[in-house]
Amino acid sequence: MAEPTKPSILVTIGKGTGVEHESETAAKLFQMAFPDREVVTEPSPGVGYAITWHPPLGLLAQCENLQAIFSLGAGVDHVLRDPDLPDVPLVRFVDPTLTSRMVEWVVWQVFNHQRRAAQYAQLQHEGTWKELTSPPAEDLAIGIMGFGKLGQAAAKALLPFGFKINAWSRSGRTMDGVTAYDAEGLDAFLAATNIAVSLLPATAETKGIINTDLIGKLKKRGPLGGPVVLNAGRGDSQVSADIDAALRDGRLGGASLDVFETEPLPADNPLWTAPNCIITPHAAAVTDPRALAMYIRRQVDAVEAGKELENVVDRGRGY
Ligand code: NAP
Ligand code: GLV
Repeated sequence: MAEPTKPSILVTIGKGTGVEHESETAAKLFQMAFPDREVVTEPSPGVGYAITWHPPLGLLAQCENLQAIFSLGAGVDHVLRDPDLPDVPLVRFVDPTLTSRMVEWVVWQVFNHQRRAAQYAQLQHEGTWKELTSPPAEDLAIGIMGFGKLGQAAAKALLPFGFKINAWSRSGRTMDGVTAYDAEGLDAFLAATNIAVSLLPATAETKGIINTDLIGKLKKRGPLGGPVVLNAGRGDSQVSADIDAALRDGRLGGASLDVFETEPLPADNPLWTAPNCIITPHAAAVTDPRALAMYIRRQVDAVEAGKELENVVDRGRGY
């Protein structure tokens, strides 16, 4: 008797930020991970799983036998924006290859501000030999907004240097050596923080949260002068114009931004030239396509063996 046909895989990348593979190219990669089944780029009744980043609205609803959707990244806001998204498990990418890249970005940016990288680059450009003050790690409190997989890994990497670490999350999730704040504790968290690091998902609740009001609540007289904001979560969590204004009038001493409300960041956006503002192009933690392919293969094998999918998004919370 012929083997029953296995559910096929739909790859639909859509317009991406960070994952630059077109659907056709990506499909070839996923075909290597799934040699036993068809990998397609158009919806059909045979599709059992979809791999996507920014699916065209309504496209996944055309796959009537869909069993699960896999996001190409850790975030899922771009998938959830489809009002007709089929009601099947949505799985996000959680993997050491991605986590370690984000940890690198956070540590890199913390040191950039602590050790005055932008100011030293300017002095070198001018050919000026001048020592700048740089506070020791023990004198700086880093406040991580969003204490999930990435926030916790960043804290673990920063703690051994001696930084004070505060963490803010909905549930007040904690860790040894970290001062935790829950949803109600935002103001206290901000008042105790010199460098705020946002690793928040984009949800209705986090929209525009890094704004003038939040900036005004950060610890004012710190060893870096003004407080510093880092954001590698999502651009929708920040009001770029508020950050720009605060950098220019000194309410903020610096910023490192990887994500923006509009990506790519338009050429005429004033943030490009804001003082002590480091911009990276949504590149903090780009998905490794091979690691993603292996991750999805493991998950599909597991679910077809009757096990649970991992890292399924809670659609009610939006992350
Ligand atoms: P995660 O494990 O789901 O963690 C999310 C954290 O945010 C949790 O601690 C959660 O609180 C907290 N949170 C959510 N809504 C909140 C709210 N309204 N108030 C306070 N805290 C809130 O996610 P992750 O894997 O760490 O990833 C975080 C985000 O990073 C992703 O969603 C994505 O947007 C972004 N990202 C960016 C890049 C890049 O290259 N720039 C790469 C990967 C990911 P609870 O713990 O209480 O649930
Ligand atoms: C990248 O932004 C991701 O969500 O993984």
